[in-house]
Amino acid sequence: MCGISGAVGLKNISNLLYEGIRNLEYRGYDSCGVALMNRKHLVVRKNVGGVEEFFRKENVLSVRSKIGVAHTRWATHGKVTPLNTHPFQSCDGHFALVHNGIIANFRPLKEQLLREGHAFVSETDTEVIPHLLEKFYQETHDVEAALVKVLHVLEGSYAFAFLSTHEPDQIFCARRESPLMLGIGDETKFVGSDFTAFIDQTKNAVIIDDGEYAIVSRDSYVVKNSVTLEEVEKPIVKIHWDSETSKKGGYPHYMLKEIYEQPHTVTAALDLETASVDELADLIAKGEDAYFVGVGTTYYVALFAKYIVSQLAGIFIPAISSDEFAALASVNRKSAVIAISQSGETYDTLSALKFARSRGARTGAIVNVMGSSIARLVDQVILQRSGPEICVISTKAALSQMVILIRVALRLGLKRKKLTRKEHDRALGHLQELPAIIQGILNERSGFIHRIAHKYSKTRHWLYLGRGIYYPIALESALKMKEVAYVHAEGMPGGFLKHGTLAMIDQDIYSIVFIPPRKDQELYQATLHSVEEIRARNGFVLGIHFDERGKNKELFSEELMLPPVSPLIAPILQLVIGQLFSYFTATSLKRTIDKPRSLAKSVTVG
Ligand code: F6R
Repeated sequence: MCGISGAVGLKNISNLLYEGIRNLEYRGYDSCGVALMNRKHLVVRKNVGGVEEFFRKENVLSVRSKIGVAHTRWATHGKVTPLNTHPFQSCDGHFALVHNGIIANFRPLKEQLLREGHAFVSETDTEVIPHLLEKFYQETHDVEAALVKVLHVLEGSYAFAFLSTHEPDQIFCARRESPLMLGIGDETKFVGSDFTAFIDQTKNAVIIDDGEYAIVSRDSYVVKNSVTLEEVEKPIVKIHWDSETSKKGGYPHYMLKEIYEQPHTVTAALDLETASVDELADLIAKGEDAYFVGVGTTYYVALFAKYIVSQLAGIFIPAISSDEFAALASVNRKSAVIAISQSGETYDTLSALKFARSRGARTGAIVNVMGSSIARLVDQVILQRSGPEICVISTKAALSQMVILIRVALRLGLKRKKLTRKEHDRALGHLQELPAIIQGILNERSGFIHRIAHKYSKTRHWLYLGRGIYYPIALESALKMKEVAYVHAEGMPGGFLKHGTLAMIDQDIYSIVFIPPRKDQELYQATLHSVEEIRARNGFVLGIHFDERGKNKELFSEELMLPPVSPLIAPILQLVIGQLFSYFTATSLKRTIDKPRSLAKSVTVG
């Protein structure tokens, strides 16, 4: 995820560009850059760091210009460095471009351009575009014609905008599978990757659709189809949101927005190169012993990993909460320690890794923030590409980490011959179904979960129960409830109940039970057994299950049904329910959702 903002007007626009790109910072904030046209010359400034810091350090507001484009980056291809920051220029300096998305065929394009004598300065996929523009301009002597030719060779997803000294009063932009829109002010026109880029200046927008490009100047704009080259009549859309609502994409809270982004973040997790998943699997396989570490939510992700690796690869890898690692783990040069962290900055996890390294262990990590301390410290890193997680409470990042860890477990299973190639591929097939199934659940079940959560929002004590791999799901769902709704929720393995906790059960203790699909016969029966134990003591049970309606009617006080799916992906779906249930309980209790009390986004103290 990155942000694009562009403006062309009658007066100096550098301050408008600043406001626009600052509004987009929620989409990415590891580096920032601008291209401004100053007396028919392009001025390009860029650097790592947040928007405010960049504008101040580079003194951008002192450059007077009536036309410019800006970008805030969340790195996907290439490290966080000044050279990898947008805008990118052509060799002749006549084009400067900013881009969101991924150019899928950038490697062959780059090789061809290199052969033709173009020089590249970055590791990004984006840089091929300005070079292609230069090449095609030399052939056509027309910027629009060059743009059309570029659109015909690019594959992948993009929203991009560029300036050219050949047409110094126009912004050119195009879109495929990445949002792009124009803001239509009286004296100024805008380009943005979403409304937030210009919402404080105008509420009139034109949405660019896939396969279209636009040419925008101070007093006019034209949108065309990139295949037919015909002009497209576009309606002006009135934006009713303010900038805060717009940043949240219309959702009332980032937490809900991020829960709803999960079909995309899971797709991103599934699209990660197999090579990086393999390398992490290799690191584990080569160690004489291995550990998963994380803390809070990521400890529960680590626990999930412990189960899935045991299930699919037949290896027992302990999961240790990072803060307990030094006291518990006996690591040496032959050990492998795999950390899981959204921010890549958490003190406890960083300390565990430093401890492991001081004993000579090899280290790996799954992190969401490129360039973070953990990403830089370890020998092997997987960047999960979930995009910035703004809500303090982790949802989409954790769920993606679980998906990545299933992929790691599958590779390990294959390496250790615990799985045949056919079993491995079938499992991958089930994983591929996940984004659409999550989307279906979000579309069809949210209303019901909302009602149930509201109905029981006054409950003071919840037990969250799951057996096997549903135990970490129960723990993580209970943590969501505690941290966002401030309601007591205790996660527990179902089998644990009869060893004491049953004494507590009466009509005032409410339980949520995560039930596996029936195909998981033993686990299914054992979990239902726990439900019976509670019901026999008049306890309330909300059963989340994959059976048809009414199958176990008398067993549950309330039931929430999920579509029949493979046992491999079932726990992930249960977690989505756990997230939504806590969110809606918290909204019923009027909690401060995105900034809950006593929790910071990255806990950098011990
Ligand atoms: C839970 C939560 C915390 C973090 C924990 C680790 O919603 O936000 O429990 O999961 O502090 O943080 P990272 O993943 O950034 O290392």
